[in-house]
Amino acid sequence: MRSIKFAASTLLVLSLGVQAETMTRDNGAPIGDNQNSTTAGANGSVLLQDVHLVQKLQRFARERIPERVVHARGTGAFGNFVASGDFSALTMATPFAEAGKQTPVFVRFSTVIHPKGSPETLRDPRGFATKFYTDQGNWDLVGNNLPIFFIRDAMKFPDMVHSLKPSPVTNVQDPNRFFDFFSHEPGATNMLTWVYSDLGIPASYRQMDGNGVHAYKWINAQGQVHYVKFNWRSQQGVKGLSPSEAAKVQGNDFNHLTNDLYQAINQGQYPKWDLYVQLLKPEQLNDFSFNPLDATKEWPGVKAIKVGTMTLNKVPDNFFAATEQAAFAPSNLIPGIEPSEDRLLQGRIFSYADTQLYRLGANNSQLPINQARVKVLNHNQEGAMNMATGAGDVNYQPSRRLPYAEDGRYKAVQTALAGTVQQLAIKKQDNFSQAGAFYRSLSKVRQGYLVEALAGDLAKVKDAGTQHVMLSYFYKADADYGSRLTQAVKGDLAKVKTLAASL
Ligand code: HEM
Repeated sequence: MRSIKFAASTLLVLSLGVQAETMTRDNGAPIGDNQNSTTAGANGSVLLQDVHLVQKLQRFARERIPERVVHARGTGAFGNFVASGDFSALTMATPFAEAGKQTPVFVRFSTVIHPKGSPETLRDPRGFATKFYTDQGNWDLVGNNLPIFFIRDAMKFPDMVHSLKPSPVTNVQDPNRFFDFFSHEPGATNMLTWVYSDLGIPASYRQMDGNGVHAYKWINAQGQVHYVKFNWRSQQGVKGLSPSEAAKVQGNDFNHLTNDLYQAINQGQYPKWDLYVQLLKPEQLNDFSFNPLDATKEWPGVKAIKVGTMTLNKVPDNFFAATEQAAFAPSNLIPGIEPSEDRLLQGRIFSYADTQLYRLGANNSQLPINQARVKVLNHNQEGAMNMATGAGDVNYQPSRRLPYAEDGRYKAVQTALAGTVQQLAIKKQDNFSQAGAFYRSLSKVRQGYLVEALAGDLAKVKDAGTQHVMLSYFYKADADYGSRLTQAVKGDLAKVKTLAASL
């Protein structure tokens, strides 16, 4: 009787004419019945010996892994990066070694604060993370759509994120909480102005630029250093939504960003971005009214050079395997690219790899999406879910028996230091001028969207002190901007001016 059932299921031919394959349990054994549990007689209890049922329920209950603590909702795509020239005079980084050189990539776009499954129409910066599978290991450029950030020191990141996440009491995001935090953070004025502009709700991921935000170092074979900022420019143009457009899109399709990217790629309309770099010599770092290694600042007036173009041309076959399990880390660097001394970046260099050891496990770099496309040779070993096969009994270095060698060309670049160990904020903060310049660069219509969206949230702030401190920051950035916001929330302009004068 059993063998007849088995044969019937293997030979089952669907009405579509497709020959069905026999299902198996995780141990590979064929499954006899995926519809009915094993019971003791017609009316008896279900038996624990139904190992297929038990395994199915166990695996189901374990389907979720912790969502990313930030950037939980994302959309990924594969593609390639093609260098537009030979930039070896500036960097040893191999994707830039010669014109036409191709490097495969995986990109994950994301929202930041809102959880997995939340509407993609909510205001947020957007993540733009690129994994370059280079021939010298993986390089992750983990950036955002906006060119700057809220804070300049990693010490403040968990507090800032707590203030932006839902209240621990109500589980609802609350402007009273995040403006309370930002009223102590004048350096955030620039980023808040960008986030509340129409760029805080992109029309599509394709119509969004990307930015590395921080300065990194480019290092050439002679050990010469340039500070470098990276900027992806969308060939599709850049488009954000006004508050009323966003409300309309949210009503129609709150997955508009994911749906747009999948549809475009599946229809063969492959989106493209050009990669630009801005370069500064170390001796130029003091030439500005601000510190160029401050992540709240752009580098206005520094020439941008195009170094390549990226095309995204394939969506993953499985969302979880690729997009959810992707581990992007600013510490995934390759020869020719090092972190700058930017304090925010220095914190990120630690934080991502650390969270991924928890979120995905000790061997997350062995998952296919994260695996380097070159041989990984070191003596890191074991740990949960290890898929590597050992290379004999020499699991240490140096050794005469297994001569793995270092290569001195890839030592850290030497950097001169001066001063004392200290805990002090950076000098030359210049907290407001770039926010004002950005406001003035917007058309009248876009200034209107910004004032509408920002005043909408500032009006919810119940504490008049917090509200007026925030208004004074925007007034200090630009008097027209601050006055319009003050008027919109029915604030006290004289008080705002007095507070702004003391900044
Ligand atoms: C000290 C400041 C920051 C800290 C501590 C921090 C921390 C984190 C953490 C823990 C994650 C989750 C990673 C994971 O689970 O795989 C994350 C994701 C991300 N962060 Fe940050 N972050 C910081 C600032 C920034 C900045 C300045 C940017 C943009 C330049 C940025 C862009 C991203 C992106 C794009 C992701 C999502 C990566 C992905 O798609 O998987 N973060 N961040």
